Amino acid sequence: MTQRVLVTGGAGFIGSHQVEALLARGYEVCVLDSLTMGKRAWVSPDVEFFEGDIRDLEACRKAIQRCTGLFHLAAMSRSAASLDNVDICTSNNIIGTQNILTAAREVGVRKVVYAGSSTYYGNQKPPHAENMQPDFLNFYGLSKYVGEEYCRLFDKTYNLPANVMRYFNVYGPRLSGEGAYALVMSIFLRQIREGKPLTIHGDGLQSRDFVHVRDVARANILAFESQLHGRTYNVGSGVAVSVKELANKMSLNQIHEDRRAGDAEITLADISRIKEELGWSPEISFDEGMKELLKELESEQAKAGAV
Ligand SMILES: NC(=O)c1ccc[n+]([C@@H]2O[C@H](COP(=O)([O-])OP(=O)(O)OC[C@H]3O[C@@H](n4cnc5c(N)ncnc54)[C@H](O)[C@@H]3O)[C@@H](O)[C@H]2O)c1
Repeated sequence: MTQRVLVTGGAGFIGSHQVEALLARGYEVCVLDSLTMGKRAWVSPDVEFFEGDIRDLEACRKAIQRCTGLFHLAAMSRSAASLDNVDICTSNNIIGTQNILTAAREVGVRKVVYAGSSTYYGNQKPPHAENMQPDFLNFYGLSKYVGEEYCRLFDKTYNLPANVMRYFNVYGPRLSGEGAYALVMSIFLRQIREGKPLTIHGDGLQSRDFVHVRDVARANILAFESQLHGRTYNVGSGVAVSVKELANKMSLNQIHEDRRAGDAEITLADISRIKEELGWSPEISFDEGMKELLKELESEQAKAGAV
């Protein structure tokens, strides 16, 4: 029988790819999204769409009916912005997570996959392994981690099987450039779209572990289908690319500005656990992924120029 699964945040960047990957694998999918960040147009018409908020328990209950699985991706997803929006972070990422887990428990879903974050590791010496202590640089990181702990405790005490996935810097088609505190690659994409120079904070030697969004969606499905639960997995490439290196691939029109508060110096995943336990490793190289992204940008600009 076809399994029906709910993707919260399914109209967002990662969520919309998650929906596509699940449909391609034969799942029946429904989405709960408030559309504060995501776009309705990114969600396939084959999907039942609930426009609603995870901070509303009734909305969660309605969306998860008849589901046997949950991919919980909805969140206040901007890390440095959380320094000015502690309340939004807490209500979306902690209360929202509590609500969706409560609703998932009530219907007895088979498995929960939770979108955690590499912001957990802060400024610790890389590579970052799952069993390290946290080092939070902002409230986003803390609130995403509290969500992790809710998943683990629902797993342990209520028998609601859950796996936590700690994504590193996810990139790929539909990466948005919205908001002053978007991730570095989205900011660069926006600056190119606007014909502006790329802004490099500090010397640009800070580096990021970039992982392609379709690889992330595949990792989530493996975590969902695995018999293992109560586990935490890093989802990264295991390779660090400096901001300067990234900028050079995108445009040589660059300026340097002061470092931003709340930014990590380096993110780099140790991915041995996910390789060993789920048999996952990234399949899309950074070069390949960047080529696809820059091609998409070029065709977008060509279309805009033709209007
Ligand atoms: N993009 C990354 O590199 C990255 C890295 C680590 C973790 N994550 C996590 O992955 C998940 C998806 O991130 P993304 O980059 O796709 O972000 P995104 O902002 O593109 O997607 C989040 C989606 O959730 C929706 N949403 C927000 N608040 C909601 C609410 N209260 N109720 C219902 N829907 C709500 C938004 O409208 C949006 O469609 C988030 O949980 C984020 O914390 C992302």
